[in-house]
Amino acid sequence: MISLYRNKIIQGDCLELLKQIPDNSIDMTFADPPFNLKKGYKSYRDSLALQEYLNWCEQWISEMVRITKPTGSILLHNIPKWLTYYATFLNQMADFKHWISWDAPTSPMGKTLQPNHYGILFYAKQAKQLKFYEVRYPHKRDRKSSYLLKNYGGKKGGLHPFGSLVSDVWTDIHRVKHNKYRDEHPCQLPIHLLERLILMTTDENDTVLDPFSGTGTTAIAAKRLGRNYIGLELDSDYVQIAENKLAQESSNSKLGNCWVSFYLDKVITLRDEDWQYLQEFFQLPVLPEEIDAAPITLKSISQVPVTLQNQVKMATPTDRQDSYLQTILF
Ligand SMILES: C[S@@+](CC[C@H](N)C(=O)[O-])C[C@H]1O[C@@H](n2cnc3c(N)ncnc32)[C@H](O)[C@@H]1O
Repeated sequence: MISLYRNKIIQGDCLELLKQIPDNSIDMTFADPPFNLKKGYKSYRDSLALQEYLNWCEQWISEMVRITKPTGSILLHNIPKWLTYYATFLNQMADFKHWISWDAPTSPMGKTLQPNHYGILFYAKQAKQLKFYEVRYPHKRDRKSSYLLKNYGGKKGGLHPFGSLVSDVWTDIHRVKHNKYRDEHPCQLPIHLLERLILMTTDENDTVLDPFSGTGTTAIAAKRLGRNYIGLELDSDYVQIAENKLAQESSNSKLGNCWVSFYLDKVITLRDEDWQYLQEFFQLPVLPEEIDAAPITLKSISQVPVTLQNQVKMATPTDRQDSYLQTILF
């Protein structure tokens, strides 16, 4: 049954469709459900009574846990208010790992503090068996001077040349703002947010499922990273947009043999364990102190060791439609 769904976006109600997916069959499940904030979706009324919304959420969350493998992860994106309820459901069915705080402005909610982050709940189906990889992101720098934003004092020499290990607070990924990257959808997530989650929790050829696929962000991230995907989505127009975009994508978000996440012409997430191999692709500071003023950059093809050049050519993402990825150095 699962092979009928693999690498497809299926139109329909996720509660019905999830029932067709076998127990313990998916490596990572990610959900970005409607937030019950009266958003203007085409096929879904985003304004249920409180208890009706929570009952509905509990049903699809239970299904997500059921279909996730014992080695797998369950990730839920929402505003903090709903995540507090989700955590109560999930604590009975899975093992809490993290509340990731994604620094991104959200809609004002009346007389409150200005909401400035979304949360991503990260649960392991079974903590002891969880598949998990530490990931790194580039050091934060001043946009104009390129100097490191944080003062590391005398410890600069010991900094990792690429960047820090990713923590549970993410401040380096911005919401999709430019219209040229936006679809006809009220709340599309950035692809590299999903790429980071996928690199952390899955391997090549694993399967990722998103029950609220929207215009296909999770599926695109999975395809770019050589993973299988299953997207479920109620609205046929969103399904069509996702399928059109997926047809333009290739599984080639790589440097040599390693899957990495790009944004514009930069690598913005890589696995810590891949650094040993990936460092050959980067211009590293000669003196450790140079890290202060010099952002890490990718080498040009002629500077990469000859033994790696063929792999680089194979991995070039030139067939991507996104104009930003056309500017990649290789
Ligand atoms: C917050 S959006 C997801 C956006 C998505 N992460 C993206 O980046 O495009 C929620 C989506 O869930 C869909 N939806 C609502 N109810 C659904 C249901 N019962 N089954 C499947 N999809 C549903 C909506 O049409 C909407 O596209």
